[in-house]
Amino acid sequence: MRVLGFIFSVLLFAVVLSFKLLADAVENSRIHTRNNSEIMLLNKKIESLVSQVNKLKDLSPKKFPKVKELSYLSKKRILVTGGAGFVASHLVDRLMSQGHEVTVVDNFFTGSKKNIEHWIGHKNFELIRHDIINPLYVEVDQIYHLASPASPPHYMFNPVKTIKTNTIGTINMLGLARRVGARVLIASTSEVYGNPLVHPQNEDYWGHVNPIGPRSCYDEGKRVAESLSYAYAKQENVEVRVARIFNTYGPRMHLNDGRVVSNFIQQALQNHTITIYGSGKQTRSFQYVSDLVDGLILLMNSNYSLPINLGNPEEYTIEQFASVIKDIVGGVSPIVKQTGVQDDPQRRKPDIKRAKLYLGWSPKVPLNVGLKETIKYFENELIKENAKEISLKDD
Ligand SMILES: NC(=O)c1ccc[n+]([C@@H]2O[C@H](COP(=O)([O-])OP(=O)(O)OC[C@H]3O[C@@H](n4cnc5c(N)ncnc54)[C@H](O)[C@@H]3O)[C@@H](O)[C@H]2O)c1
Repeated sequence: MRVLGFIFSVLLFAVVLSFKLLADAVENSRIHTRNNSEIMLLNKKIESLVSQVNKLKDLSPKKFPKVKELSYLSKKRILVTGGAGFVASHLVDRLMSQGHEVTVVDNFFTGSKKNIEHWIGHKNFELIRHDIINPLYVEVDQIYHLASPASPPHYMFNPVKTIKTNTIGTINMLGLARRVGARVLIASTSEVYGNPLVHPQNEDYWGHVNPIGPRSCYDEGKRVAESLSYAYAKQENVEVRVARIFNTYGPRMHLNDGRVVSNFIQQALQNHTITIYGSGKQTRSFQYVSDLVDGLILLMNSNYSLPINLGNPEEYTIEQFASVIKDIVGGVSPIVKQTGVQDDPQRRKPDIKRAKLYLGWSPKVPLNVGLKETIKYFENELIKENAKEISLKDD
């Protein structure tokens, strides 16, 4: 009897315990469900508050970066083609802060509104969505003509369009300059030297370009743009300035422009393999974007009308450059070599004697300083991109 009583008590205890555990589980799941629905409710409230704050922001007067007040005589009306792109948006910032009236023209092929959104609504600023292969009629004193895709994947994406932009687009800008008596600065490139047989490259060198290779739409397009400039200067008295720009880097570069600076920084930041195409012995020199902007403005306002190299003559092999970036970023990315690409220039270094002599210009920003700024920019952009990916997955 005692034994039976004991067994009964144990069974009773076990049943009571299971019941209690089940009740706790039910209660927990109720709290959990309640928490989830409360969180959803809170999220909805936050979303509606954010949208109200954004509406209020739109109503409140926008704060612009500081600009100088210029007199009527010193204030110029300046057109910047490709103004929403990497280089030109920095140029726009400088011209705006100097107090000029700036009109940006862009078809947003590779440019982005966010590069210039801080000026939208400013009384000195105007943005026109326009493709420069169509004529444009505006009254201006100076034209900085930078519209053209610049990185190989972008300009090879639609080679015919790249040629049209650099030929028909340039004719349209030179024609506009002739009609309104404006001075025009053409953004040419070190690519007019092709895979150079002269080192460093000076402006008297005629270049070594493959006219039918994959890069020719850009290289030859820019060479025609230069020819057109001097034809308009000779025949139509248009005042032209020609900048042969070498590799430039800095914030607002495209994340996916496929060039060495953006590739290496992204790979290093994500601890991915840093890929070198070819032997790694090919050289490049890199100029920080603010140095280029200084040079472009000096050239535009100078009396010098022959082509001028704007670039940083400090030369690095691609191998060295990969290690510089890896050292600054830190991380554990291995550096690996892959097959080279067709017509890749093997040596690139500007001779900048002309720029020094006629513009008093030489680059000031050391590579490690410029790279740190650029890496910071890429870091933020990658964080934003990852946040977008996560929110897309949540949707
Ligand atoms: N970044 C460099 O290292 C480098 C080197 C040599 C020369 N350049 C020259 O400097 C200029 C700017 O280069 P980037 O690196 O800023 O390139 P980017 O691609 O960032 O900017 C080019 C801009 O031109 C716009 N654009 C392209 N085609 C257009 C068209 N048909 N009509 C209107 N807008 C158009 C794009 O949307 C973009 O905003 C280019 O002309 C390029 O050839 C740049």
